[in-house]
Amino acid sequence: MYVYISHYGGTLMLEHLARKWTRKEKQPEATEVDPSGKIPVHVAVIMDGNGRWANMRNLPRVAGHRAGMKTVKEVVKTADEIGIRYMTMYAFSTENWKRPRDEVDFLMRLPQEFLSTELDELIERGVRIRMLGSKDELPKHTLQALLTAEEKTRENTGLQLNFALNYGARHEMIKAFAELAERVKAGELSPDDIQEEDISRYLYTSDIPDPDLLIRTSGEIRLSNFMLWQLAYTELWFTDVLWPDFTREHFYQAIVEYQGRARRYGAV
Ligand code: FPP
Repeated sequence: MYVYISHYGGTLMLEHLARKWTRKEKQPEATEVDPSGKIPVHVAVIMDGNGRWANMRNLPRVAGHRAGMKTVKEVVKTADEIGIRYMTMYAFSTENWKRPRDEVDFLMRLPQEFLSTELDELIERGVRIRMLGSKDELPKHTLQALLTAEEKTRENTGLQLNFALNYGARHEMIKAFAELAERVKAGELSPDDIQEEDISRYLYTSDIPDPDLLIRTSGEIRLSNFMLWQLAYTELWFTDVLWPDFTREHFYQAIVEYQGRARRYGAV
């Protein structure tokens, strides 16, 4: 035990083991997702806990992001098998630029790395790839990889995989309100006539239904500037599991719980 602890970083490792031991409950299997029950059309995911996962192993934070990328692959495959139509993965927020330069550079290389190994299989599955977020500040190589994937998968009719990259909900809404204000200024729209659709049409998600289910990993219970408009009636599901540890069984668990929820949209 002593060797184990000193090798992996003392209390952090103990904490990790403790977490594992307290998560003894049985994980649902694929068969427990009711195929005739409601399947969420759109699932949004805040993939959190990569840094802590790496810290617990005395690894650099970027090792957590790389492990997180593997989880993305598994989750996308599972979503496709379940019949989910849209997945939106929060990969980089407008606030993430404040991270150390090395980490930002690494995160900006991940889409390329992911697409270079996964794009062929995603195309075979009929997956369509989209980027949601501001393209302006992205490094050329990141943008190019995403634009190429968008272009190559434009006609695909399977699962739509959205990467929210350089995405911030407040920024997205400011942009929408500014466009709306221009229309009002031009006399095309009266402020009294503004409807929800007048705002939705200027969001990155203008042609995508609002998420039915939001998953956030790592035990943080907040939205972190993610899809604030779109999540108005979304079912929220939080888990303590860190993103790199998130398995298809955890995903089934989220879906099974979603299937048991009554969505009333303010009615009775
Ligand atoms: C949050 O964890 C995670 C991110 C900011 C990056 C998420 C990116 C991936 C999972 C890989 C994306 C893959 C592709 C294909 C683009 P954190 O670093 O804030 O973790 P912490 O809260 O434990 O520090």
